[in-house]
Amino acid sequence: MSIQLECYNLAKTYETKRGPFSVFRNLNLKVRTGEFVSIIGHSGCGKSTVLSMVAGLNEISEGAIMLAGKEIDGPGPDRGVVFQSPCLLPWISALNNVLLGVDQVFSHATKAQRRQIALHYLSQVGLADAASKKPTELSQGMRQRVGIARAFALEPKMLLLDEPFGMLDALTRIELQDVLLKLWAQKQITAMLITHDVDEAIFVSDRIICMTDGPEAEIGEVVTVPFERPRDRKTVLADPRFRELRQHIIHFLNERSHMRRSLPEAAARTPSSAAA
Ligand SMILES: Nc1ncnc2c1ncn2[C@@H]1O[C@H](COP(=O)(O)OP(=O)(O)O)[C@@H](O)[C@H]1O
Ligand SMILES: [Mg+2]
Repeated sequence: MSIQLECYNLAKTYETKRGPFSVFRNLNLKVRTGEFVSIIGHSGCGKSTVLSMVAGLNEISEGAIMLAGKEIDGPGPDRGVVFQSPCLLPWISALNNVLLGVDQVFSHATKAQRRQIALHYLSQVGLADAASKKPTELSQGMRQRVGIARAFALEPKMLLLDEPFGMLDALTRIELQDVLLKLWAQKQITAMLITHDVDEAIFVSDRIICMTDGPEAEIGEVVTVPFERPRDRKTVLADPRFRELRQHIIHFLNERSHMRRSLPEAAARTPSSAAA
C-alpha cells in the first residue's frame, strides 16, 4: 500500500521568552493511504503541535513532512481539519458554513453542484433536516457534525482531527465516532486523530501512536489494533484483545510515558533517572 503521509526527522522548537523550548525531536512516522492512526499522550507532549504542522499551520523547525510525495509548505484543501470546537460562523446556516469551503475548493462546479455536495455531506452526518439552521440553533454535537461534514466536503486526501469529541458527552461521542468511521470507510481517506480517550483510540484506529511526555517527547510505542473492519462496537468491546490493548496503553500512559526510549534501557528503568 502506498504511503500518504511521512514525517521525517521532524522536530519542533518554540522560541519562548525563556529561550528555545524543544517539544519533540526525531519524530519519524509513515501513514499508509487510507489508514486511520491515532496519537495518544499526556497533555503538553506535542500532539496538537504535530497535527498543526501536518495541517501546515505551524512552522517546521527541523525535518520534513511529505503528503502524497510532496513536501508540505503551508495549509491546503488537501487536508481537512476538525478541532474540538468547529468555529462555525454563527450568522449563517449550517449549509452555508459547509459551502464556504466547498465554494473555494470546487470553484469550477456550478452553484447547484456545490450546494449538492454540501447537502450530501450534511445528510451523511445526519443533518439533512437541519441544513438551514444556524449554529446557535444546534446542539454541540450537531455543530461538531457540521464540522465533520465541512472537512469531508472538501474531499481532502487527509483528515486531521484534534480531540474532535473532547467536549461531547459519552453518548454523543459514540454517535460521532460512528459517523466519522462510516465516512472514513466510504471515502477511504487517511485519518489522523488526537484523542485522550483510550477506548476511542482503539475502536477507531488501525494503529495508535503513543507519545512519551514532553519536553523532548518522542514516539514511545506504536500499537497495532487487530480488529477487522467494519467494526461492531459490541463485538470489539467483548473481545479479550480489547481489554488487553486497553490495559497495555493505560500502562504506557501511567507508567512508561515518562521513560525515554532513546536512553539505554537500564538507565530508563531506574526510577531516579526517569524522574529527572
Ligand atoms: N506557540 C507556542 N509557544 C510556545 N510554546 C508552545 C506553543 N504552543 C504549544 N507550546 C508548548 O508546547 C508543548 C506541546 O503543546 P501541544 O502541542 O499543544 O501539546 P498537546 O496537544 O499534546 O497537549 C506544551 O508544553 C506547550 O505549552
Ligand atoms: Mg492538544
